[in-house]
Amino acid sequence: MFSKLLPSALLPTLLISFFASATQIDRRSVGALTPLSSKTKVCNILDYGAVADNSTDIGPAIKSAFASCAISGRATIYIPPGSYSLQTGVVLNKGSSYAFQIDGLITLTSNGSFSGNAIVIENASDVEVFSSNGLGAINGQGYITRLTSSGQNARLLRLVSCTSISIHDLIFVDSPTFHLVFNSVSNMEAYHITIRGPSLGGTDGIDVACTDNCYLHDIEVTNRDECISVKSPSQNVLIEDVYCNQSSGMSIGSLTADADTAAAISNITMRNIYIHQCTQMLMIKTFPGGTGATGYVKDSVFENFWAYDTTYGLDIDQYWESHTTPNTGAVALSGLTFKNWTGTVDNGLSRGPIVIGGSNVVPLTDIMLSDFSMWTVNENKILNQCKNVYGTGYCAATSTAAALAAFTTTVTTTSPPAGFTSPTSPAWGVAGYGITIPIPVYTPAVFWSPVSSGVANSLFPFCAGFDDIGSE
Ligand SMILES: *[C@@H]1O[C@H](CO)[C@@H](O)[C@H](O)[C@H]1NC(C)=O
Ligand SMILES: *[C@@H]1O[C@H](CO)[C@@H](O)[C@H](O)[C@H]1NC(C)=O
Ligand SMILES: *[C@@H]1O[C@H](CO)[C@@H](O)[C@H](O)[C@H]1NC(C)=O
Ligand SMILES: *[C@@H]1O[C@H](CO)[C@@H](O)[C@H](O)[C@H]1NC(C)=O
Ligand SMILES: *[C@@H]1O[C@H](CO)[C@@H](O)[C@H](O)[C@H]1NC(C)=O
Ligand SMILES: *[C@@H]1O[C@H](CO)[C@@H](O)[C@H](O)[C@H]1NC(C)=O
Repeated sequence: MFSKLLPSALLPTLLISFFASATQIDRRSVGALTPLSSKTKVCNILDYGAVADNSTDIGPAIKSAFASCAISGRATIYIPPGSYSLQTGVVLNKGSSYAFQIDGLITLTSNGSFSGNAIVIENASDVEVFSSNGLGAINGQGYITRLTSSGQNARLLRLVSCTSISIHDLIFVDSPTFHLVFNSVSNMEAYHITIRGPSLGGTDGIDVACTDNCYLHDIEVTNRDECISVKSPSQNVLIEDVYCNQSSGMSIGSLTADADTAAAISNITMRNIYIHQCTQMLMIKTFPGGTGATGYVKDSVFENFWAYDTTYGLDIDQYWESHTTPNTGAVALSGLTFKNWTGTVDNGLSRGPIVIGGSNVVPLTDIMLSDFSMWTVNENKILNQCKNVYGTGYCAATSTAAALAAFTTTVTTTSPPAGFTSPTSPAWGVAGYGITIPIPVYTPAVFWSPVSSGVANSLFPFCAGFDDIGSE
């Protein structure tokens, strides 16, 4: 049982640093430090009072498996295959060199008592949270809360102030609120994550605030709010090979320009992002305020974005949610490169592939827009709009132009870019999840096999060559 339980370490195979862009992540130092093969002490929750009957609350059993077994290290909290009920929130504070192996399905009761989070791991280092059999899942049963307008409102998994952590091969289903949240993490790796949320706002897939060096990849999110959202403060984050299905898409924000909470986001790379009928491909959203330039989003690259019928493409809004006052300052956006975006927006006339509403107090500078091979599903022209944007490409004004002054440039294009071919709807993008009915946990099949059992599957053609994590 043991060798099956503890797959061989993955991380030593990820020995390639990343040089190609602004992001300075070091793939050697993301993830748990101690290999699973050394976390040999098994803290099986069934030995601490849990029952796989989907009715006994396993909250107390997880806590006691942690406190009396895993916290001393070189240990694995083990949830064997089966169905479990979680009715009380679990907070695991401190600890290092442990794993949390979830090989069963944890279902939150709708009347559980969670204080906002089902499972929290905090102040920990060298932790690996994973499933070895691909059946590790947490189902929030958010539909019951929505049906009854009452019930629990728990985030499914939250990691706070943790370093050297990895989380992989898990499925998060139907949170009544956000699915997976990282606050103040560093040296983090998250991959082979599947999120199935309802078609509704307020259901973020992943929110990440990374103080340094995080690598998120091979992730699929179905929902109707953020797919993956980078929060402040964050630096040195690489996010790649992500599938956003019917969601809001990728984002950075919402960011404030108040002096005490000013945004600090730098060296982010997002690339190989696949968007199916999302609200946008990428949004950067900030509120006005502060005095002059207050806080920043800088030195970041957003490349190889692909979309099928997205509402917005690149959408930058510095007056987010129509906040126009106090128009005294703004988060400074600079050194941002957007390149190789392909696919279709829904209505290119009302929402072209590029819509940038910059602050007229603090204009965007050093913005590079290139290779937007995009066209429109409806209408017969696209209208790109840049308000207060300096840089190169499309509607950006060259920085040698007139002194910084508020301006709006619109560029209308009446024929598709040379060589443009309309994308077809991807196999993973069919319509379906409801809001008030249960969301299936295991169907359709997830895109990835657990790393412990090797090769990724190739359900989606674009996966080939991108998600070959084991041989990187
Ligand atoms: C962030 O990117 C800039 C521009 O590429 C680079 O000069 C800087 O060293 C990077 N910062 C960190 C902390 O790696
Ligand atoms: C984590 O550590 C911080 C700082 O010591 C402390 O304030 C916080 O309460 C700890 N978290 C938990 C869950 O105990
Ligand atoms: C577990 O119990 C919940 C009731 O809280 C139910 O809705 C759910 O369908 C059950 N799950 C399984 C897998 O039996
Ligand atoms: C939650 O609801 C179940 C029935 O679905 C009931 O058995 C249980 O006692 C309730 N728990 C609380 C804490 O109200
Ligand atoms: C552009 O992005 C597409 C994915 O949409 C990718 O297949 C292609 O290789 C990228 N091109 C370059 C030059 O990186
Ligand atoms: C994409 O979203 C739809 C719901 O709109 C769902 O039916 C489909 O299964 C999702 N695809 C995946 C791979 O989860």
